[in-house]
Amino acid sequence: MKKVSVGVIGVGTMGVHHARNFAEIDGVTLVAIADTDVKRGQEVAAKYQCLYYKDYRKLLQDKTLSAVTIAVPTSLHFKIAKDCLNANKHVLVEKPITATSTQAKELIDEAKKRNLILGVGHVERFNPAVLELKKYLLRGEIGRIVSLLAKRVGLYPPSVLDTNVIVDLAIHDIDIFSFLLDQEPLNTFCLGGKAIGNKREDYAEILLSYKGSVHGLIQVNWITPVKIRQLSVTGTKGYIELDYINQKIKIYHSHYTKSFDSFGEFLVRFGTPDVIDINVTGEEPLKAQLTEFVDCIRKGRKFPVDGNIGLNALITAEKSLAKMRERNIL
Ligand SMILES: NC(=O)c1ccc[n+]([C@@H]2O[C@H](COP(=O)([O-])OP(=O)(O)OC[C@H]3O[C@@H](n4cnc5c(N)ncnc54)[C@H](O)[C@@H]3O)[C@@H](O)[C@H]2O)c1
Repeated sequence: MKKVSVGVIGVGTMGVHHARNFAEIDGVTLVAIADTDVKRGQEVAAKYQCLYYKDYRKLLQDKTLSAVTIAVPTSLHFKIAKDCLNANKHVLVEKPITATSTQAKELIDEAKKRNLILGVGHVERFNPAVLELKKYLLRGEIGRIVSLLAKRVGLYPPSVLDTNVIVDLAIHDIDIFSFLLDQEPLNTFCLGGKAIGNKREDYAEILLSYKGSVHGLIQVNWITPVKIRQLSVTGTKGYIELDYINQKIKIYHSHYTKSFDSFGEFLVRFGTPDVIDINVTGEEPLKAQLTEFVDCIRKGRKFPVDGNIGLNALITAEKSLAKMRERNIL
């Protein structure tokens, strides 16, 4: 198998897992990492036996590198990703693609012009439970989808200083709703604000509407003292619950009959649902994402979670944030 040489820029909370996975994936050489935090950078480089640079622009001078992943704070995604594309490297940038949709469009154009991959780290698209759920929905297991409900809550991560809970966290579920429904929302409504801190929005409820009278509701916050990552889908013939963390799915098949009583009144009689528990055991989603990224580079394929997917999710996040802020200044 042809080896793909990669580098990682930013090896903090998330980037260290990029480095770990690249060191483990067959057919990949982790050549170098870059991080402005010298102690952290040297430790990670020593652990995964690769070169360390304080300045990522030095890493980009390495002609053997075909690709780079970027896991720096969101406000730096645009500048660093643009420099990587200008250095002719394929790029996978962590979610959100950039801090603003204007920046995202510029990156997409640059990647297209240079015929380079611009992937975005919407890692839940590689969660085996999500992929399994999508199969069930496509084969009509619970009938026509009526509503989606996501809950992504937990305590505030101290490393996130430059964004808010919608652009940082809700963006995962915004994107997963689009993936499951194969469409973008028509309308956005959002309530929320700053509950604990006063610098950035830390809680929100986002209501999205889609073609076909489908609705999606996302509860997101950095307040709830327990980490919960759940999704449920209600359809005309059943209900599915998914746990993103444990990668478990529970399916409830509805039993009901429709009839008219002797006075001509419409009646629905509900029976007890069948319940099926499914343990979806699979690869770590990040490993699957990075494996696909290098495979696409090796085979000249399109990476499935591209800049446009990242842009669409960011546009909805921006609209939600604007709706929330509009209301909060009234
Ligand atoms: N996909 C996911 O589920 C997921 C989860 C967590 C974080 N993220 C994303 O990953 C990114 C990083 O988040 P994090 O939590 O790891 O943050 P972090 O602060 O823990 O790590 C960021 C790292 O980038 C380094 N850095 C800062 N400026 C740099 C520069 N100019 N050049 C090189 N390195 C630099 C910092 O020293 C730090 O080590 C964010 O965009 C975040 O949204 C994604």
